[in-house]
Amino acid sequence: MKAQINDIALAYADTGTGLPVVFLHAFPLNRTMWAAQEEALSSRHRVITIDLRGHGESDAPLWHYTLEQAADDVRALLDHLSVPQAVFVGLSMGGYILFAFYRKYADRVKGLILADTRAQADTPEGRTGRFQMAQIAYTQGPAAIADLMIPKLLSPGTIESNPTLVQNVRSMIEGNQISGIAGDLMAMAERPDSVPLLRQITCPAQIIVGELDVATPPNDSRLMADQIPRAHLTTIPGAAHLSNLEQSETFNQIVEAFVLTCAKT
Ligand code: MLT
Repeated sequence: MKAQINDIALAYADTGTGLPVVFLHAFPLNRTMWAAQEEALSSRHRVITIDLRGHGESDAPLWHYTLEQAADDVRALLDHLSVPQAVFVGLSMGGYILFAFYRKYADRVKGLILADTRAQADTPEGRTGRFQMAQIAYTQGPAAIADLMIPKLLSPGTIESNPTLVQNVRSMIEGNQISGIAGDLMAMAERPDSVPLLRQITCPAQIIVGELDVATPPNDSRLMADQIPRAHLTTIPGAAHLSNLEQSETFNQIVEAFVLTCAKT
């Protein structure tokens, strides 16, 4: 499905009925990374997955991207779908967008799942790395980005033993346009520090992290769990950064339990 949102076509899937659960994907993937969650949860909940601006089947305009703009796209899509409030699940960049979303639209948030993400802004070295990656995308294309990113997204064990999953992740990355990849890199490099926001997050929150996550390591999750007043942290053994793909059953159980808790409040 596609909707015209903030002057671009935004692709999404909207499956099932019940309490809406909105999933925001990682960089540089797309909404299909949530296929296992959609399948497991949509018989009991309304599951909405979104191709963020610049990804998958959504438009990838060539211009300046911000995470606040991505949050505005999500809000406008939820207005279009008549969803006043939802539980939100954001993994990595999806989590960064949730901080931007919470800053502006806290009343739309019934609960937050922050998976394999961090509240801190980029370091100066991190920002330089974003610039370098954008140049690689521009000169060598998305396949070079897949080569760079896969070892950061998946555990060595998954890369060794699950070629189907590796190929799935590679296809998602290679399906992106360079304008979207570079736009996201700019947006992530410019994102503000969200640590001061953490104490102001008053809704229920579930933090999830793969124990082997090197991109946003478990210490970053501990910081969020320590500072968000109603947060609970769960570490998933055997998973790295894309914990929802590497250990999907465990991830789904955590999400399901959290959504049921939110439904009762
Ligand atoms: C992601 O998975 O969204 C990225 O690794 C986030 C980042 O590069 O900071």
